Amino acid sequence: MAAAVASKGLEGIVATTSSICWIDGDAGVLSYRGIDIHELADRSTFEETTYLLWFGKLPTSAELAEFTAKLAAARTLDPKVIEFLQIVPKSATPMEVLRTAVSLLSMYPAPGDPDEKDTSHDANVKKSFNLTAQIAMIVAVFDRIRKGKAIVEADKTLSHAANFLWMLNGEKPSETATKAFDIALILHADHELNASTFAARVIAATLSDMHSAITGAIGALKGPLHGGANEATMKLLYAIDAAGADPVEYVKQMFAEKRKISGFGHRVYHTEDPRATHLRKMSEDLGTSAGNRKWFDMSRQIELFVKGEKKLNANVDFYSASTYTTLGIDIDLFTPIFAVSRISGWAAHVIEQHDDNRLIRPRADYVGPAYPVPYVPVADR
Ligand code: COA
Repeated sequence: MAAAVASKGLEGIVATTSSICWIDGDAGVLSYRGIDIHELADRSTFEETTYLLWFGKLPTSAELAEFTAKLAAARTLDPKVIEFLQIVPKSATPMEVLRTAVSLLSMYPAPGDPDEKDTSHDANVKKSFNLTAQIAMIVAVFDRIRKGKAIVEADKTLSHAANFLWMLNGEKPSETATKAFDIALILHADHELNASTFAARVIAATLSDMHSAITGAIGALKGPLHGGANEATMKLLYAIDAAGADPVEYVKQMFAEKRKISGFGHRVYHTEDPRATHLRKMSEDLGTSAGNRKWFDMSRQIELFVKGEKKLNANVDFYSASTYTTLGIDIDLFTPIFAVSRISGWAAHVIEQHDDNRLIRPRADYVGPAYPVPYVPVADR
């Protein structure tokens, strides 16, 4: 006997237990393993935060050093994967390429890597190191290839954030850029049962493998109602700028046309998204130090208007758009960069799912023609 019908979009439904991430949507609290996101953003690093997500506690300095070394050592891509990045059609977007390349990775494991089908805890952890290192590399390497630039070899002495910027730009990043990017990675690392993580858990729960789960998660992240919103936000800022329009008037018109403003609203937060608090500040600080506050100022005007008019708060995607643009990152890399971070959370959830698995298989409330409908032979229709 099926239970009560869930709300549309499973709003408010608790679908599993998890000890990874806790959110209080009314109070605007986000925590990883119980530690407040503000503390992590102010004091941690992406490596340490990822350790926390995967192993459930903060590492000792020896554990952190070992973890950091393992993640750096995993910075390798099979030549066949690089060849794939070179032959994709010119029209391919970085998100499509990333989705397909991650799927391909399971067929080109590094020597000694676990069997693709091995879903044991240790195999999953090993795959998590590889995928975290490789997703960042794929995004950077593909961007170099499509721009006709030479591929930059990974620098295993750099942090995850610094190595990504190094492989993307071919120059050693400043401390300010590295710090800002590292904080952005921490802020995006996990978010409980968001759509892509839920997709990953559903796939993992069939006892399918880590690569399949992460490929599916990337497909979900790509949508404009999820990770794709940061690209859409920047496109809006560019459109306003190109039209020489007043940001508030432009958005007012969008409301009149019943269009949604990307970067606003959230299924879980009914107050400010705590990640937006950091990204707003980061966007302003980076804009000020770069001598170009245009994108921040425009964003702030829109935010104040949307909040005043519709009581909608900016979400994680709104200020990540101006932050990444000020860091010199192309618009179609915003969502892939979300994946560069979120792989840490996805992996933690796949590990947790496989450690205590049960198939995820809900029911649908059937609203079609009433049973039994007689079958009419084709000649009689
Ligand atoms: N711009 C304008 N109106 C919005 C809005 C936005 N960004 N987000 C929500 N609303 C309005 C809806 O139009 C709806 O109004 P109505 O009740 O008068 O029809 C109401 O708020 C509820 O929105 P709904 O889309 O049903 O909420 P949801 O919980 O299903 O969706 C999001 C949550 C995030 C998908 C939604 O807020 C959205 O589409 N935001 C833009 C995309 C985005 O930024 N995504 C990234 C999320 S981190």
